[in-house]
Amino acid sequence: MLDDADLRPIGLTGDRTTGPLHLGHYAGSLKNRLALQSTHRQFLLLADAQALTDNADDPARVRQNVLEVALDYLAVGIDPDRTSICVQSHLPALAELTLIYLNFVTVSRLSRNPTIKDEIKARGFGRGIPAGFLCYPVAQAADITAFKATVVPVGEDQAPLIELTNEIVRRISHQVGREVLPEARALISPVGRLPGVDGKSKMSKSHGHAIPLSASPNEITNAVRQMFTDPNHLRTSDPGRIEGNVVFTYLDVFDEDRGAVEAMKAHYRRGGLGDMDVKGRLDRVLQSLLAPIRERRAAWARNPDYVLNVLAQGTMRARRHTQATLDEVRDALGLFRLNF
Ligand code: TRP
Repeated sequence: MLDDADLRPIGLTGDRTTGPLHLGHYAGSLKNRLALQSTHRQFLLLADAQALTDNADDPARVRQNVLEVALDYLAVGIDPDRTSICVQSHLPALAELTLIYLNFVTVSRLSRNPTIKDEIKARGFGRGIPAGFLCYPVAQAADITAFKATVVPVGEDQAPLIELTNEIVRRISHQVGREVLPEARALISPVGRLPGVDGKSKMSKSHGHAIPLSASPNEITNAVRQMFTDPNHLRTSDPGRIEGNVVFTYLDVFDEDRGAVEAMKAHYRRGGLGDMDVKGRLDRVLQSLLAPIRERRAAWARNPDYVLNVLAQGTMRARRHTQATLDEVRDALGLFRLNF
């Protein structure tokens, strides 16, 4: 149960509130978060402040998706009695820690960050890179350390950000002469990042090649129908390629019947198995994975007051926790304190 005196190790992760979560999130980190609920004291951050760093031109999108992502959490089975779900922008200690940490990292270190470099390329920022975007990894270090998280379930693209967090933690320990904050480790799913439906990009909220967890049965079927297969597999009798074939990549991740998938792969390679048959199987697998998630999501969506109350409770708990860390860091550094 949720309790400020819970002594289990702490897990923290978050999602930018820029759109509903998709199958890539499910395979990449939601499953790990579900498992952590029984072993860790877990916090999930609805990262609306971070979402603004590349969506300042569309604050409504950031606002509206806070509830959408919260619904996704609840729909996949995040249990508000075991995990605190909280709103990043409502935790002032995170902003204050960010301001302190910005002094323990160099501008060149931030511009060399591989995650940031990739994201800058993908964003094509028209009028230049917002300073908030370049600095969001520092804010993410504040997120992680404010909760004293030691485990961070994320996709592999986020690993360099955990590295940076640990660098800041060590800088501060070095400055103070003792360990103030724990280092964290990324908990990365063995699946790796799921490709988008087109097989080119990675599945991403921003590129439109994603299957949202809230997809309707028709949307699922259409997405599977459009999936990139082997462009040289023209007739059913032709031998086909598995590598780069998105339908098989997804079967590998989501079909629990390993034996059946391996048999299909062999048949496809030999020739004689049509794309429609393989897609038909994936469609069935995804329909049965997503149907209960969609139903639970719809049930929570009919009760927004309950969901908002979950966020309020989680955010209050997170406030106490993060404020205490901020106080410790300020004291450890020996910053001025006016008592009034
Ligand atoms: N950067 C993460 C994303 O792109 C979101 C995030 C914000 C996060 N704060 C975090 C992840 C803290 C892990 C830990 O979705």
